[in-house]
Formats: sequence, structure tokens, C-alpha cells
Amino acid sequence: MRHLRVPNRDVESILSLLREREWLASGMRVFSQDDAESRLVPIDPGSPIALPAPFDKYEIEVHEGQPDNRIDSDWWNHLTNLLGPEVIAAHGEAWPSSHEFISDMMIVRIEDTLERFSAQIAEAKLLSHPHIRLVLNDEGVQGELRIRKLTPIGARVDGAIVTEAIPDSVMSTRVLVRESGKSIACDPSKAYFSTKLQSERLETLALARQLRELLGRPLRVCDPFCGVGPSLAILLSEPGLVGEVLASDLNPHAVELLMDNLRRWDGRGYPMGPAPISRIYEDRIIGVADAMKLQTNPEFIGRWDLLIVNLPHRTLDILHSLVPLIDRETPSMVRGRVIVPENEIEHANRSISRDLPDSLAGFPAPNLRVKRDYSSKLRLCSFQAWIAPRED
Ligand SMILES: C[S@@+](CC[C@H](N)C(=O)[O-])C[C@H]1O[C@@H](n2cnc3c(N)ncnc32)[C@H](O)[C@@H]1O
Repeated sequence: MRHLRVPNRDVESILSLLREREWLASGMRVFSQDDAESRLVPIDPGSPIALPAPFDKYEIEVHEGQPDNRIDSDWWNHLTNLLGPEVIAAHGEAWPSSHEFISDMMIVRIEDTLERFSAQIAEAKLLSHPHIRLVLNDEGVQGELRIRKLTPIGARVDGAIVTEAIPDSVMSTRVLVRESGKSIACDPSKAYFSTKLQSERLETLALARQLRELLGRPLRVCDPFCGVGPSLAILLSEPGLVGEVLASDLNPHAVELLMDNLRRWDGRGYPMGPAPISRIYEDRIIGVADAMKLQTNPEFIGRWDLLIVNLPHRTLDILHSLVPLIDRETPSMVRGRVIVPENEIEHANRSISRDLPDSLAGFPAPNLRVKRDYSSKLRLCSFQAWIAPRED
């Protein structure tokens, strides 16, 4: 999460200015780190990338956000009132204390052993978060399309909390999320989307800026696992950064939402449904496609400066099949994510270097950086590979 580093004397005034614009991250708190003179103020993910005056005089830092404990203690109080302290104590750490907000929905992960308390969990969450419409239990990401199985467990209907026979009128999971100054249409029960990847996307933006600087022209960006397009949202928000785009996904629902998003981000028409991949404009190749087959179309190969590979379970197996897409006339970059056992990270680094062309002189070889634990053994990592032009 982005934070503004604000000197202590300015914190109160900055807080009220951010609140006025709805740019203060809700549910997160201000904290200090390695410095008694200043505080880190959490910025709402929806606020623009480039903040205007007076915010622009403060440094922006990306840190893990710190939840506001008052809201947290509220939720524990409500849950304790509903179930009694003995039940709470009996299940210790198993209660779902964390959650993800996607617009006015909250997604929680309830352990199997606690499913019989889903209604009370939903009620306590809705009581402690008055802006939430729908609470969903996340039963995990499934299949090749990485779609979450989400079960509604509680909702707010005309101000009342309902945990049984939830009416269809409040069940829709299609929402607009604000991120980095753009609205992203998503539907997490039909297409992969995670708000937790914003910092990853901010890093991609910083790398894209470097590559643009190096090439001295707008980038041709290829995002063949684009989902609803959140990586493009942030790249397109920077004038002059991106020229041509190829954005595709195997999931037709994701592409339908992507078309909706591009209509808003680009301010021009796009097909209403999930059309197969085609050149829709001179600078936009969009649609449903299997990424592994893109290299069979001569129009798509040898074209792209920035290739985004976001299929972390399979990246190591498929990387070589995407290499033909890269423009080898000038320096280029592959930005990817990988899920790998901790003790195989070095092996994975060698596999990435082997499957990609040589690194650009003066830049380090691709090296996985651990972003978080995916399970007790697996780590979710990301990398960037700076690629040298082909030597004739
Ligand atoms: C982890 S999600 C990432 C989505 C998006 N890039 C994001 O950051 O939100 C992986 C995406 O790859 C898509 N996918 C899976 N296999 C694919 C394939 N063979 N070709 C194209 N897309 C594929 C899924 O539908 C899913 O949207």
C-alpha cells in the first residue's frame, strides 16, 4: 500500500485534506517507522498515481498497510456478543481476522471447521464495516482460469443484515474498483482479480518508465494473461508511456470486462462481448486467446517491448513459448510472477535465464524476489528480465 511520509506537524492537516478527497485508505492506520519526525499516512488505492499539490511535496513509500485495530476490536466484540467468549476461545487463531475489500464487497476465507459459524462471522463483519454490501466466503482459486469460488454468506439489505435467503438484488459480484485513479470493472466470481497486487503493478509501472527512458519512445506492451486488465490500467494512466497494446486472456468473461474497461480508459468503442483476439485499432490488439498460441500469428511476433507473464503456477513451463513475441531489435523486458518451493528458487532462476534470451549488458540477470508465502512451502515471487537485442 502506498503511504505518504509526512512530518509530524503536517499530519493532521494532510489527514483532513486526504479525507476530503476520499484519498485516505479506509480501515488502515497512520504509523511511524524508523523516524520519530514523520509518520506514514496510508493512501487509498484508488487515488491517482501522481498526487497534486500539496501532497506532491511528500515522498511516497510502498509498505505493508497496518490495519486500524479499533475496527478489528469492533469485529471481535461483535463476534463475541454473537457466539460467546467460550466459542471464540475454543477456535483460537482459526477465526478469519483478515479480509479483502473489493469495492463494497468483503471477501473472507473461513476454515472448514468454522463454516457452521459463517452467518455469525458475516454478521460481525457487516456490523463492524458499515459500507459493506456483501460478504463472501472465498473457497479458493480454481482451474486454469484462476477463478475464485465465492459463496455469499451475508448482506446488507435496506440497512438490515441478512445471512439467509439473501435476495438476488444484492448478490451481484460485478463491481467497479478504483485503483491508481482509474475505475476497473471486475467480477471476482467470473474472472481473476486481486486488489492485493497493486504494489506489484506499481513496480511494473516503475520498470516500464525505465524501459521507456531507455528506448526513447512509447512502449509496445503485451499482456497475454491480462484478466480484466489491471496492469494496463496503471500503465495507460501515464501519458506517453504506452503505444501499442496486445491484451488477451483465455477467459471470455475476463475479456468482456476488459472491453468494458478499455472503453472507459481509452475513451473509444470496443466490442460488447468477448470477441476472439483481433486488431481493433491500429494500436490495440484485444480479445480471447490462448497465450501459448499467439506465436503462431506472424502479426503478433517480434513486436513487444514489455511482456507481462502473470500465470504464476505455470510461468516456468511456458516462458519459452512466449519468447517469439518479444521485439529483439531493441532492448526489451519480461516481467513475471512465479510460484515455487522456497528450496527451488535458485533452480527457478537458472530455468528463467536458460529460457529467455541474454540479459541486457549492465543489467542483472533475472532473479526471483519473494513477495509472500503462498503456502507453508511455496513462495509467490516476481522477477524482471532486461533482454538484450539480438546480435546480427
Ligand atoms: C493470475 S491471473 C492474472 C490476471 C491479470 N493479469 C491480473 O493481474 O489480474 C491469470 C490469468 O491467465 C488466464 N489464463 C490462464 N491460462 C491461459 C492461457 N493459456 N492463455 C491465456 N490466458 C490464460 C486466466 O484466465 C487468468 O485471467
